[in-house]
Amino acid sequence: MTDATDGVLHTLFRSEQGGHEQVVLCQDRASGLKAVIAIHSTALGPALGGTRFYPYANEEEAVADALNLARGMSYKNAMAGLDHGGGKAVIIGDPETLKSEELLLAYGRFVNSLGGRYVTACDVGTYVVDMDVVARETRWATGRSPENGGAGDSSVLTAFGVFQGMRASAQHLWGDPTLRDRKVGVAGVGKVGHHLVEHLLADGAQVVITDVREESVRRITDRHPNVTVVADTEALIRVEGLDIYAPCALGGALNDDSVPVLTAKVVCGAANNQLAHPGVEKDLADRGILYAPDYVVNAGGVIQVADELRGFDFDRCKAQAAKIFDTTLAIFARAKTDGIPPAAAADRIAEQRMAEARRS
Ligand SMILES: NC(=O)c1ccc[n+]([C@@H]2O[C@H](COP(=O)([O-])OP(=O)(O)OC[C@H]3O[C@@H](n4cnc5c(N)ncnc54)[C@H](O)[C@@H]3O)[C@@H](O)[C@H]2O)c1
Repeated sequence: MTDATDGVLHTLFRSEQGGHEQVVLCQDRASGLKAVIAIHSTALGPALGGTRFYPYANEEEAVADALNLARGMSYKNAMAGLDHGGGKAVIIGDPETLKSEELLLAYGRFVNSLGGRYVTACDVGTYVVDMDVVARETRWATGRSPENGGAGDSSVLTAFGVFQGMRASAQHLWGDPTLRDRKVGVAGVGKVGHHLVEHLLADGAQVVITDVREESVRRITDRHPNVTVVADTEALIRVEGLDIYAPCALGGALNDDSVPVLTAKVVCGAANNQLAHPGVEKDLADRGILYAPDYVVNAGGVIQVADELRGFDFDRCKAQAAKIFDTTLAIFARAKTDGIPPAAAADRIAEQRMAEARRS
């Protein structure tokens, strides 16, 4: 039996991490769908966040992940200046074997039954084509393909937003919002990372990259032979004279092993959940490394899917993603005033915005 203080219900109703508004368990036996939709907050508007399709070890793990991710979306949407609260859904199972049109349509009907309190989009294991199917059952699905009225791939604006976060970091640290002649290491040059490299080169930065996939590396070096390639992330974080480290692959990049050896003075990248555990933000601050909070600088994607609900307009979206520059600067300023790491300052500002919305 699970310890009563450990269980999902405890997390939901009693712990400090809780405070979710609604959690919906969904089952469609015909298609094998088992899903959890978690709505953390609708204080700022309908909860917005993607659907993760993942082979969780058990239902408890799935619910816990949905709760955690939904909460994260409240903060992300608040800091992106969106009129959206936070929510997230998880579908339990291996998308390779379980995903079917029937299952996605059944899922779409569950999303629809919430009447717009939750708006879904892509996440790990779900793609633009899947949202096209979900959207056949509900208008509360975004991140669809351009052929179906959607905005398509969000990595272009995500990279643009991360670049704004880097410019703000440069402004804060070196008094000039440019990456010219700065040495920037990008770990993971996939969809977001390769667009980021283009921004950096256009701004005059020296770029060092690494990726486990050779094709991803070659796509860049074929176009830009002046980009330096190192063997792996271990090598990248130790590059001499590195100014900025941009984790753009997986989560957990900042941990007890990596932080002590980082040569960079700034960390600013696209990957979600870069801090491996609470306390890492303080370790970075103690080493004098400026951390631009991941959920703030990688919000270009969610800005795009939110815009799609109004009828996608790239220029409007880009203008909103450009505000990541000012938001990042405001976080650094608040961190300095309050004497806390930037990650904690971002949380405080987001909580303030949500509290003000609740009061009004
Ligand atoms: N795509 C978006 O709009 C978006 C929005 C917000 C956050 N993010 C986050 O940004 C990160 C990158 O997203 P993406 O869409 O570019 O994904 P992607 O899968 O296209 O790219 C990730 C790249 O990282 C590489 N990689 C994987 N493990 C690695 C390792 N150990 N070392 C070096 N490289 C490694 C992969 O080979 C791949 O080329 C993810 O953490 C994602 O959650 C993406």
